[in-house]
Parts: sequence; C-alpha cells; structure tokens
Amino acid sequence: MPRFLAAQPDARLIPLPWHLPLEQWPNDVLVALPRGISRHVVRFIQVGSEVFAAKEVLEGSAMHEYRMLTDLNRLRAPAVEPSGVVSGRVDAHGSPLDSILLTRHLQFSLPYRSLFSTGVRRETVSRLIDAMVVLLARLHLTGFLWGDVSLSNILFRRDAGEFAAYLVDAETGELHDTLSDGQRLHDLDIAVVNLFGEFSDLKEGRMLDEQLDPLALVKQIETRYHDLWQELTGVEEFAGSELSRIESRVRRLNTLGFDVAELDIQTSPTGETIRIQPKVVDAGHHSRRLLRLTGLDTEENQARRLLNDLDTYRAQNNLSHTEESVAAHQWLMNAFEPVVTAIPPDLAGKREPAQIFHEVLDYRWYQSQRERREVPLTEAVQGYIRDVLSALPDEVISSEMISPLGEQRQLVNPLDPSQGFVDDQDMPVDPWEAEAYAPGTEVLPDHLDIDALRRRAGR
Ligand SMILES: Nc1ncnc2c1ncn2[C@@H]1O[C@H](COP(=O)(O)OP(=O)(O)OP(=O)(O)O)[C@@H](O)[C@H]1O
Ligand SMILES: [Mg+2]
Repeated sequence: MPRFLAAQPDARLIPLPWHLPLEQWPNDVLVALPRGISRHVVRFIQVGSEVFAAKEVLEGSAMHEYRMLTDLNRLRAPAVEPSGVVSGRVDAHGSPLDSILLTRHLQFSLPYRSLFSTGVRRETVSRLIDAMVVLLARLHLTGFLWGDVSLSNILFRRDAGEFAAYLVDAETGELHDTLSDGQRLHDLDIAVVNLFGEFSDLKEGRMLDEQLDPLALVKQIETRYHDLWQELTGVEEFAGSELSRIESRVRRLNTLGFDVAELDIQTSPTGETIRIQPKVVDAGHHSRRLLRLTGLDTEENQARRLLNDLDTYRAQNNLSHTEESVAAHQWLMNAFEPVVTAIPPDLAGKREPAQIFHEVLDYRWYQSQRERREVPLTEAVQGYIRDVLSALPDEVISSEMISPLGEQRQLVNPLDPSQGFVDDQDMPVDPWEAEAYAPGTEVLPDHLDIDALRRRAGR
C-alpha cells in the first residue's frame, strides 16, 4: 500500500493508479498543460477542479523537495506549493516504484519554452531577466541556496507589463539562516552557466531575437543581480546634514517592490556621518498594500498598476479627503468589479482578473489616444474583449481552460505536452505581446534600473 504524506490530504488522490509507473497513467486522469524540460517523468493530474503536478523521483529526493517547498512557502518566497509525497509504491508484480512528489499546479504560469515558442521581443527577454533576478535575490534573502538555477526550473506569470518568476524545482536546494557572499555568488555562477546554455539553445532553435547575444544576456543578469543586492542590503554612508537620504533609500526600496522591516542607522559620536543598512527587507510592498485595501491578491506589478488606478479614481471622484479604505471599496465596486464581471465565462480562464484589468487600462489608453477622447472603462472593456481577449491564443494555463487529454489540439506527443502541438508553427501571435510595446505605449518604468531610480531620487 502506498503511503501518503501531506499537510492537508486530499482524499480524492487516494484512488488514483499509484501502482502504475507515471509514464503509463491513463489519459483520463491526466491533463495537457505546458511544461518545461525535465529529467524526471512529470505529469499533470486532475482531480475535481484541482490540478496537481506529479513528479516521479527517489523517495529521499521527494521528501527533501517537499520539505524545501514547505519552508519556502512558509517564508513566503515565490515557489510552487507542495501537496504531498506518495511513497512505498509497488507495481502489480510487487516490484518497488519511485515516490511521487505532488505540487499544486501554479495557475496561469508559463514555462519559458511556451513563452518563447510564440516569439518574444527583446524587451520581453529583458523583463524575463528582471523577474529571474528578483526571484534569485528574494530566495537568497531568505537564506535559500538553490543550486540549480535554470530557465527550466522557473515558471513565469504575467504581472502587468512585467513577469513574476516562481521557483519550480527545489530538489538541489538548501536552506540556511543566511547565505555568505561566496554561497550567493556560487548560485549566480550556476545560473550564468545554465542560462547561457538555454539561451544558446533558444538561439539555435531560432526562438530568440537575432540581435540578442546569449553572453550579453547572462552578463545583464549578473549586473542586475549585483545592483539589486547592493540596493537591498548595501551600506550607505553620508553626512549628518543629508538626513533625507534615509527616506530616499526606503522609497527606492519601495519602488523596487520591497518593504524595509528593519533599517540599521548608526551615527558617528558627533553626528557628522550617518551609516544606514537595511537589515530585513520583505518583498511585496505594493501587493500587500492592495491586499489590505481591497482584499485583492495579485502580483507585485499588477498591484502597482491597480493602486495607480485607484489614485486616479480618487482624484477624479473628489475622494482625496475620503479615507483610503473607503475610497478603495468604491473603486473596487465601481471600477474593478464591472470590468471583471463583463468578461464572458468562456474567456475568463485566459488571464487572471488583475491582469485583465491591467490590459483593459492599456486598451483604454490606446483607444483614448486614437479617438482623442476619454473612453469610459465600461466601453473599453467591450473593445478589449472583442479585439484582444477573444483573439488570444489559449495558453491552457488555468483549470477553466483545460479538458482531458485527447479533446484538445493534437499534441506531438500526447503524454509530453512540453513537446508542443503538431500545428505549433501556426501559433497565433499574442496580440497583447504585440500591442504592449508598440510605439508610444505607456510602459511601466524599468523598475530594476537602479541607476534610473537614483537619478529620479536626485542621487
Ligand atoms: N506545480 C507546478 N505547476 C506548474 N508546472 C509545474 C509544476 N511542477 C512542475 N511543473 C512543470 O514541470 C517541469 C518539470 O518539473 P521539475 O523541474 O521539478 O522536474 P525535474 O525533472 O526535477 O527537472 P530537472 O531536470 O531540472 O531535475 C517544470 O519545468 C514545470 O514546467
Ligand atoms: Mg527541473
């Protein structure tokens, strides 16, 4: 009898055919969702409306990864959520089978190959790199040494005009109280070697913009990582007359999406020099604020965009003196909800609600520019549904979008969706991708450009 280890067991998993090697599981319990390249057999299992990723691995590895993922989730690091380990499996002849690690399928996530298969622009690659750098820095802040940083071990979710990256493979990870510089740099070295290889493969497969050079891309990762780490943890020293620099540092960190929980401030005996260093920084500055005000749980840049819209809403509706939480409630009822409820149910699975709202704001901006008038949100959402949402390729990323294997477009290999669809060559262009960087687009500031932040803050 197999043994189930889980914090919150799901009884519906018990009757599944655990006596079969994962490769031989029947189609009716599997679903085809995009998946990255992996050494182990990985399949997506559907029970009810839940989808789990199942990975067949040695028991020791499965247990280790389960614990690592549990710790990372407890520390609120961006990682897939573990659901359990099934061990002690035997086949019909009594021969032992490897254990299975179960994680919750990360909704609306995309492995990099699905992103690249439709062709990505140069700016998009830059955004993916920023997302990876933030992920690595956040993991290092929590004391997590990854040991296997690579594109295949990361999942991306759309986050307004940016991307948010999640760790998907923690098999080689170690959790420490803090990491030494040597440990962090070792992780970064691994990232550079792996990513260079993966970017080179993409280039060979003509999936990377001709003008992008894999070596320059990994150099960009190194530079951005060092800049971000310095900003998050570095010591800053200045004259006692420049006290506003304390505030500037905190603001810059907020703009990068971090809150400073502890700032160490030391003054020289005579108060001539001041030395500051952030000791504890937490990611999610904007998403926490939006959650507190509206109850919406979103990615960081989506939150930033929604909070900006909330500010505009307050200004336009004379709510500047109304308490923020009251104004936020009105915005939720009169701006956000009407857009989300206007989306026909059959299209709702294509994007998360916060992402839809962000894209509708972009759409309205375009339309207003084109027609030289203030287009109301309720009108823009109809245009967005017609021109953008209905035309989006099915990314098959959320449970609303999936159907059992076999009822979908024909896969090259039905049991290995990462190989893509037979008619992949004719993949439609993602109009959001195409629109997002058209000339004159209102794009979010390049939030990891720390020099630009300093310039803006006057330092
Ligand atoms: N919870 C999840 N949600 C969405 N996708 C997932 C999830 N778990 C795994 N995947 C997909 O399956 C792929 C393979 O998973 P994973 O990297 O854990 O396998 P692996 O065999 O350990 O990889 P490696 O070859 O790096 O050792 C991932 O790239 C990802 O696309
Ligand atoms: Mg992997």
